[in-house]
Amino acid sequence: MVHREYRKLDQTRVPLLEGLLRYRTEGIVPFHTPGHKQGRVLDQGLRDALGEKPFFLDISDEIFDQAKNHDSAAVIKEAEALAADAFGAKQSFFLHNGTTAGIQAMLLACAFQSNTGKAKPFTEKPAEIILPRSVHRSVFSGLMLAGLMPRFVKETWDTKWGIALPPTPKAWQDAADDSCNPVGIFDTYPNYYGIGGDLKQTASIAHGMDRPLIVDEAHGAHFPFHPKFPPSALSLGAAAAAQSAHKTLGVLTQASLLHTMDEGLTKVMPMILDLLQSTSPSFLLYASLDAGRRQMVLEGRDIWDNILKLGVETRKRINDIPGLVCLGDEVLDKPGAAVWDPTKLLIRVDELGLTGAEAELILRQYGIQVELAGFNHILVLLAVGDGPQEVKSLVNALRMLAASAKAKPQTPPAFPSVPAGGVMSMAPREALLAARRQVTFEQAEGEIAADIVTPYPPGIPLFVPGEKITGIGLGYLESYLRQGIEVRGWADLNRKTIWVVDDY
Ligand SMILES: Cc1ncc(COP(=O)(O)O)c(C=O)c1O
Repeated sequence: MVHREYRKLDQTRVPLLEGLLRYRTEGIVPFHTPGHKQGRVLDQGLRDALGEKPFFLDISDEIFDQAKNHDSAAVIKEAEALAADAFGAKQSFFLHNGTTAGIQAMLLACAFQSNTGKAKPFTEKPAEIILPRSVHRSVFSGLMLAGLMPRFVKETWDTKWGIALPPTPKAWQDAADDSCNPVGIFDTYPNYYGIGGDLKQTASIAHGMDRPLIVDEAHGAHFPFHPKFPPSALSLGAAAAAQSAHKTLGVLTQASLLHTMDEGLTKVMPMILDLLQSTSPSFLLYASLDAGRRQMVLEGRDIWDNILKLGVETRKRINDIPGLVCLGDEVLDKPGAAVWDPTKLLIRVDELGLTGAEAELILRQYGIQVELAGFNHILVLLAVGDGPQEVKSLVNALRMLAASAKAKPQTPPAFPSVPAGGVMSMAPREALLAARRQVTFEQAEGEIAADIVTPYPPGIPLFVPGEKITGIGLGYLESYLRQGIEVRGWADLNRKTIWVVDDY
């Protein structure tokens, strides 16, 4: 895959960071927001914690030089053009509400585009988006905003690892064949565990339907910067992709990127992002995106070389600890899995008689915090900030975990497979806006869900708004609650009732 070669612009530039620093050195007296006026008046505790520098650079949009008419828009445009050049996009947009905003924007753009010309106009059938069920909850909020109906693609459930696998090409094709009035295809690539499906094939299904493939690439912002990573979604034919740069790169939390390749989506995106995001973006976040991009282009290859080597060594050392299993290349033999990101260390702890949540708590006592605890596993992320010292601490803590668990082994409770969802009886948006009432589990069978109900782990929604609640789904939920697993989406603080649509 092409990495450095396609870059045409001067990637040593960081126009946003340069603009912020220039404003400071010019000594301008700021009679504008934000009110702290470059940190002049601050709580002492905050000043002690952060120092003054972040406040020097936390300026609103009157920051740039006369040549640009004091206008931040021109500088943002320049920085976004550099990002597009670096990530291989036609157009990139900086996001200050994370990939959540990018996902919502892509879904709205698909619905909008379908409604206004290029694609087929709406028919009497509700507009659909084809997608797997195990998606981030922001996707459901996007469906509600866009008024889209989900057409779920069948996923395979890996009971050994307790995770959903990417849908197979056949499952995508089947869903596409069944779909009525689709406005696009949505995929998560890679998933939280770094596993991705055959996105090129999914793109070709979308192209065959003359619809865009839009991708949640929250966990793949680093892909363009090392040939050992999977190809980026854009390089495989995605029309748009949103990336949480803050998850894996040297970028501040909430700073994400939305990239587009498709002309129609690009055209409507500024309008849609204006609908979704604050009018006061943090220029600190944006400057970090600008600098994180430069760092990746100039140093990414070397940085990721080191992290990848660390990953190989660490995986081996973890697999040498009796009772622990760390997923490796064999993941590619699983159905639906076509690519894999080795910076994700997915570690099964069930042979120690532990659940993921128990292992997480014990590791915390040893000074380690993992990214995620699943039913029988924990997930450790290696990213730009990691080095040999950090992974040494991780491996030591895992050794102590294994030793202490072996001393009093227990059998973890059985893990039921997530059941298939119920029939979608109305669009998520209709269910969200309809009159609603609270019901207990005993009363819920046959009702239509009005909120997302999700057990964590595995984080796959059990009921989504608009879906008929099944007895099997309720049984699954009850067995989860019995095992003390957290469920989100309650209608009351006592966690006894859920929201359903009233009187449909
Ligand atoms: C798969 C996936 N998609 C989207 C998101 C949302 O990203 P952000 O936190 O940048 O809004 C997350 C966040 O955890 C995620 O894991």
